[in-house]
Amino acid sequence: MQRKVDFLVIGSGLAGLSFALKVADKGKVLIVSKAGLEETNTRYAQGGIASVTYAPDDFEKHVNDTLIAGDGLCDERVVRMVVEEAPKQIEELIKWGTQFDVKKNGTFDLAKEGGHSEHRILHHKDNTGFEIQRALSERVRNHPNIQILEHHFAVEIITQHHLGHLIKRYHSDIECYGAYVLQPETRKIMTILAKTTVMATGGAGNLYSTTTNPLIATGDGVAMVYRAKGIIDNMEFIQFHPTSLYNPAERPSFLISEALRGFGAILKGHDGKEFMQKYDSRGSLAPRDIVARAIDNEMKTRGDDFVYLDARHIDPQGLMDHFPNIHEKCLSLGIDIMKDLIPVVPAAHFQCGGIKVDLNGHSTINRLYALGECSYTGLHGANRLASNSLLEAVVFADKAAKHALHHYKENIIPANIPMWNDEGTTHPEEIVLITQNYREMQQIMSNYVGIVRSNLRLKRAMDRLEIIYEETEELFKKSILSQKLCELRNMINASYLVIKSAQARKESVGLHYTIDYPHAKKDNKLFIS
Ligand code: FAD
Ligand code: SIN
Repeated sequence: MQRKVDFLVIGSGLAGLSFALKVADKGKVLIVSKAGLEETNTRYAQGGIASVTYAPDDFEKHVNDTLIAGDGLCDERVVRMVVEEAPKQIEELIKWGTQFDVKKNGTFDLAKEGGHSEHRILHHKDNTGFEIQRALSERVRNHPNIQILEHHFAVEIITQHHLGHLIKRYHSDIECYGAYVLQPETRKIMTILAKTTVMATGGAGNLYSTTTNPLIATGDGVAMVYRAKGIIDNMEFIQFHPTSLYNPAERPSFLISEALRGFGAILKGHDGKEFMQKYDSRGSLAPRDIVARAIDNEMKTRGDDFVYLDARHIDPQGLMDHFPNIHEKCLSLGIDIMKDLIPVVPAAHFQCGGIKVDLNGHSTINRLYALGECSYTGLHGANRLASNSLLEAVVFADKAAKHALHHYKENIIPANIPMWNDEGTTHPEEIVLITQNYREMQQIMSNYVGIVRSNLRLKRAMDRLEIIYEETEELFKKSILSQKLCELRNMINASYLVIKSAQARKESVGLHYTIDYPHAKKDNKLFIS
């Protein structure tokens, strides 16, 4: 089966939906999402979205906070552009129906998170992402020019390679003509041809055993673009959120928003004492890389499985008003955040690198944009500042929409694009081959490529990954495809990129900390792909 559209959007989080809404008045849009429309990382965002709103805050402060968190590796042009565009994009989100909390006097109730020098986080209680996803999903469902294919899985983007042309890695003439998309129930693969394709597939938290990310976050976009020979960069910088709720039986891990620390909650050890001041004068609100590493160190040196977050001294009404979902969730596990300490551990949370794009969100493959968490724009550098990712998604969706609208009519799709070839494939007999490799991949990444790394651990990770890579490729070639198998293959590709990038960086900077090179180089801009 073949379909033709003007804009193919792969992913239905904030990045994909905002792009779709911005182009839909001008052309036919198809959104493909591998789960239900609302099942995205976006939906789980708690803290909010950063934007300079009132004095004494100003753009310069937000720029500086982002650059400091990014530890010398942000692209300052991008940082300025995103920070300055923020208020306009917030207005757009509100116009689309998103509600941010306001105080009694009608001004926005701005929160503060780690690494921010001012209160500048717009939020909707402690479930901002849910509110954004609700508003935008409603809007796209009602737009006459937008069609939605839920529970459809993009397997590969279509390029000249599928026309039988030999393509070299990083060749500047690679073009994208759409994607091959799997309908998991029937196992049939559709050919979707598009003048413009947008990768908005989110992050890859599931590379790790403990993550705040829902099951959809499997690095699909990065893997597809890597296989199509686009440039992927900055993948060594995986952000671990310092405070996910310690509840080993639960996956994904429930997040205890940094906004709770912004509201006064303090990290403590099992002895009831604060420990963050030993590591950083900003204490519990230091940037995430520092806090996560400090917790990791406390746990390892004391032999504890978690540390505590203490919110017992905070005004109970304030806690209820601002954190009703965290309160309810903890209560369901017998923890009353007003009376009890909250057990927390770091969890894989955000992918700072990804598909390399320019200031218009355009990738190194022609006609292909990458937006949101799957992209590498240069905003986050070596560590993302809290609540800057929703902002990045919506700002770059706007830039990409303007650029794409200007160019998409010129894009001719060749007539001879072949259908997916699955000749000679059979149903994989044993699903255990997939589930076991999935688990092994997560163990390799968690044990050897986590918060603290070393040359030896990275080498061991690469050696072990090689084995499951070979096995999985073999399975892929001879199987009728399933979503699980494709996801496993993508996660192995994404893991490879994280390990390879980590091995190439011979220094410790931001989120990448290695005991073999504990210090940052002076001149530390590396190009890794
Ligand atoms: P997502 O929202 O993850 O959407 C990805 C979409 O792609 C999904 O629809 C998925 O189904 C689809 N998809 C993936 N692969 C395929 C495929 N092969 N085929 C078809 N569809 C596919 N950031 C902030 O700025 N502020 C916060 O407060 C905040 N809190 C967070 C809390 C949690 C618990 C988590 C997990 C993240 C948080 N983040 C926060 C990060 C932020 O939510 C994400 O970075 C952002 O939402 C990513 O948006 P996105 O549109 O790029 O991707
Ligand atoms: C949080 O609420 O702590 C998450 C914020 C973010 O990841 O930006």
